[in-house]
Amino acid sequence: MAMARRSCALLVAATALLAMVAAADAAVPPSCERIECPAYEVLDSANGFEIRRYTDAMWVSTAPIQDISFVAATRSGFLQLFDYIQGKNAYNETIEMTAPVLTEVSPSDGPFCASSFVVSFYVPAKNQADPPPAAGLRVRRWAGPRYAAVRRFGGFVADADVGEQAARLDASLQGTRWAAAVNEARRADPKSAYTVAQYNSPFEFTGRVNEIWMLFDGATEASGAHVL
Ligand SMILES: *[C@@H]1O[C@H](CO)[C@@H](O)[C@H](O)[C@H]1NC(C)=O
Repeated sequence: MAMARRSCALLVAATALLAMVAAADAAVPPSCERIECPAYEVLDSANGFEIRRYTDAMWVSTAPIQDISFVAATRSGFLQLFDYIQGKNAYNETIEMTAPVLTEVSPSDGPFCASSFVVSFYVPAKNQADPPPAAGLRVRRWAGPRYAAVRRFGGFVADADVGEQAARLDASLQGTRWAAAVNEARRADPKSAYTVAQYNSPFEFTGRVNEIWMLFDGATEASGAHVL
């Protein structure tokens, strides 16, 4: 446990250093200094967005949740994942909380239709080798490095913020060398529009960090030029 904590702190420090090199606004979320977060490299940072490469890792996800509300669906998914880390899993094992909680959003076709949401939790390093299975949840590995175009925003996430922040991220990417890769990912999988990452407990009211992620494939990195 102590070792996991120490390597986590080192990882955070290394990531913070990389982030400082890339851009002043790319600091690690404050909650990642207290709890474990997945490691990433910052590849680029400009004009309201950051491009990250996440390492291969296991995540635990809910089944798709149909709802008209992002906030309600995230709460319902979070409760399932909370039970999981409290020991409601095949090994009866308690697992340390991590950040962020991700909600993958697949918008519906009309205003009166339920959208689909998948809520995910990053498995801490200690459990990466053998995360416990659990009924109703999926344990999945992110295949290969995953690239994310990221826009950060503060406060409490409301339903109305999510689409608006995604639109701002999308607008900031157009005309950049990343636009083709992000647009291609959307063409390839139109149902997976974007992901919301939340780093804080609902009871923290200062320093809140949220992000919109648009994930894309490493195979298209070549078209994104040689960035490092
Ligand atoms: C987990 O707990 C349940 C209920 O207490 C028990 O039936 C089961 O055998 C336990 N499983 C393991 C792997 O310890």
